[in-house]
Amino acid sequence: MAWHLQLRMAMTTTAETIDIGLKTDALTEVSDILQQVLADAHVLYLKTRNYHWNLAGGRFHSLHALYEEQYKAIEISIDEIAERIRMLGCASPGSMSEMLSFASLKERKGQLITPDDSLASLLSDHETVIQILRAAIASIEDSYQDAGTADLLTGLLQDHEKMAWMLRSMTALETNDSQQDPSRSQ
Ligand SMILES: [Fe+2]
Repeated sequence: MAWHLQLRMAMTTTAETIDIGLKTDALTEVSDILQQVLADAHVLYLKTRNYHWNLAGGRFHSLHALYEEQYKAIEISIDEIAERIRMLGCASPGSMSEMLSFASLKERKGQLITPDDSLASLLSDHETVIQILRAAIASIEDSYQDAGTADLLTGLLQDHEKMAWMLRSMTALETNDSQQDPSRSQ
């Protein structure tokens, strides 16, 4: 998936005059990429928190705790992404309407959700984010030579790969080992 196909409202940022060895076009265009990354992080943060609240069914405690761990990690990344946009001299999106307009992920309203559904939903979103980040990193390195942003996004890529692995592993447990898991009866 090409990151540029995900940009809904590209070129909306305007860089301040700064001198860090990147061209003005690079500052604004990398910031536009970061807008989408930031927006998707907000959607995934709230969706993970939504499932932390509304999960209903077996293995509640383990998944409730896992989702809390993951939304806290995403919350930290949100701050890092927004502040990177400011380091490039642009203004960060700050409203929910902006986040929804820039995001490629779809939000989900609050309602009770089963463990299987929540795991599949979050895993799919993390895998989408991983694909977007991988394409964005290559573009930022090749087209803009912005090593700082590429490094930030590489760290985020690794974080999402780890979260996806945990969700995938919990899905396998849910499917294969549910009978042996004593937490299901709690
Ligand atoms: Fe909580």
